[in-house]
Amino acid sequence: MRKDGTPATFSGHPVGKMFLCFETKPLVATLLALTLVMVIWNLQPYYENLISATNRCSASTSGVTESLPIRSGNLGAGVTPLAEKKLVKPSPPADPNKRTFQAYGNAAALFVQMGAYRGGPRTFAVMGLSSKPIHVFAKPWYKCEWIPNNGNSSIKAKAYKMLPDWGYGRVYTVVVVNCTFSSNPNADNSGGKLVLYAYYGESPRKYEKFTAMEEAPGSYNESQYSPPYKYEYLYCGSSLYGNLNAARMREWMAYHAWFFGSSSHFVFHDAGGVSAEVRAVLEPWVRAGRVTLQDIRAQAEYDGYYYNQFLVVNDCLHRHRFTANWTFYFDVDEYIYLPNGNTLESVLQEFSNVTQFTIEQNAMSNVLCLNDSTQDYSRQWGFEKLLFKDSRTRIRRDRKYAIQARNAYSTGVHMSENVIGGTLHNTETKISYYHYHNSITVHEELCRKLLPMFTKTTTTWLDKVPYVYDDNMKKLAPTIKAFEQNTIGSQHHLHS
Ligand SMILES: *[C@@H]1O[C@H](CO)[C@@H](O)[C@H](O)[C@H]1NC(C)=O
Ligand SMILES: *[C@@H]1O[C@H](CO)[C@@H](O)[C@H](O)[C@H]1NC(C)=O
Ligand SMILES: *[C@@H]1O[C@H](CO)[C@@H](O)[C@H](O)[C@H]1NC(C)=O
Ligand SMILES: *[C@@H]1O[C@H](CO)[C@@H](O)[C@H](O)[C@H]1NC(C)=O
Ligand SMILES: *[C@@H]1O[C@H](CO)[C@@H](O)[C@H](O)[C@H]1NC(C)=O
Ligand SMILES: *[C@@H]1O[C@H](CO)[C@@H](O)[C@H](O)[C@H]1NC(C)=O
Repeated sequence: MRKDGTPATFSGHPVGKMFLCFETKPLVATLLALTLVMVIWNLQPYYENLISATNRCSASTSGVTESLPIRSGNLGAGVTPLAEKKLVKPSPPADPNKRTFQAYGNAAALFVQMGAYRGGPRTFAVMGLSSKPIHVFAKPWYKCEWIPNNGNSSIKAKAYKMLPDWGYGRVYTVVVVNCTFSSNPNADNSGGKLVLYAYYGESPRKYEKFTAMEEAPGSYNESQYSPPYKYEYLYCGSSLYGNLNAARMREWMAYHAWFFGSSSHFVFHDAGGVSAEVRAVLEPWVRAGRVTLQDIRAQAEYDGYYYNQFLVVNDCLHRHRFTANWTFYFDVDEYIYLPNGNTLESVLQEFSNVTQFTIEQNAMSNVLCLNDSTQDYSRQWGFEKLLFKDSRTRIRRDRKYAIQARNAYSTGVHMSENVIGGTLHNTETKISYYHYHNSITVHEELCRKLLPMFTKTTTTWLDKVPYVYDDNMKKLAPTIKAFEQNTIGSQHHLHS
């Protein structure tokens, strides 16, 4: 079936291939194959010595000899067997000016797959990382093939790629491959597999080919791709990393479980930030079916932008594209808020004609508290005591967003650039979020600077930034605490 030449292979390459296989069966097969290759690899010198000792001019070894680094200037003076072999098998006189280039290792894979998902009756998306220079300087492309289980011939499909990380990638960049067939390739539900061809450059001769996903017989269910969806709201968290304060996570979780209500679900991605304490805080919510925690620590092998957050948000988008009406993207130091007595339902009803809307932030100080002797700050939640808002207007601040995922083909951290349908930005009178920047990794008392009581009603200038008092979030604290108690019981083991 290799109509376009043979797949490119590097020496020692099977290791790179291993990361492309996520299904258990292929993984086991690959591991077996890998072990075999390793064994042969390790035996090779002995094998060759044996052969050259018994049959010095064997034609069967000459191919091996030629592909070895004959001209390498790095070999020590004592290493001569290769030169000997060269003498044995005469070759054309060497041109002393012809230089060779000897490659060792393989610095970045052509494709590192994280997930592949069906996105409707005839479309699929494959999420992965890919060597960034290849995408900057070459023109890699992709092709898809469906191999049905029913014995019918395979079907090929056009694929297009999106690079959703805005050029922020490092060694690796994020690639979303969209495969769309002309009709459902698994219409009879006999199952099959989606094979991706990843090309190294413009040439169709050099590529890697792998199974991106399999659909088991009978598993295709068309009704899953149209409303009603399981939830109204889904939270897709980006990579959690660093020394997170479990108390802050507990507060965030209680607040948003209340804010989004029972028809919502939260997906977190642990890139090393979920310590035993943080896990303990999330555990009751996992048990209650409100939270899914994904372990993505293995991403550390692949150097992308900030713990591969662009890969993670895209994986979450496509994995849960038909899970909820609206998917929200924001961080765990950010709290969505509805001003002017709006309800989430009414706001989203109003926005239902757009695919996505962005959300403005209220930037909160992460050190300023009121010098109020009636308050015991050591017992208060973060959003209950950090009440000073940076009141500068006309400065550009990051925004967060919510999206109707079924209309998005790929996405970013602050919004999606690959959607069908409109994008709304003027939302600040309807919805906003409070941002307690950098407060999530602080483990000592947050109130590190106390302001006199009169600052409650004036503007306070600190380091040329004006702050005003804003207790909208504090007012919600009693409700949130009661909600948490009623939903998952007491969490008294936590302090500050
Ligand atoms: C792939 O792109 C097409 C439009 O070009 C779109 O209709 C389809 O939903 C996309 N598929 C996925 C899985 O994103
Ligand atoms: C298999 O291919 C034949 C011939 O193209 C077609 O008539 C038949 O419907 C296909 N079967 C399935 C199950 O798709
Ligand atoms: C297909 O999915 C729908 C909605 O998720 C579900 O109600 C139905 O039972 C599923 N059908 C089959 C045959 O699994
Ligand atoms: C979600 O979608 C369903 C079905 O389309 C609709 O009835 C419901 O009002 C939507 N909910 C929200 C919050 O948009
Ligand atoms: C807080 O107020 C008390 C009494 O009003 C005062 O004694 C104290 O110095 C103040 N602390 C700070 C840090 O301003
Ligand atoms: C969506 O509706 C709002 C009013 O509710 C309107 O201002 C906006 O132009 C509409 N957007 C689109 C893309 O139809």
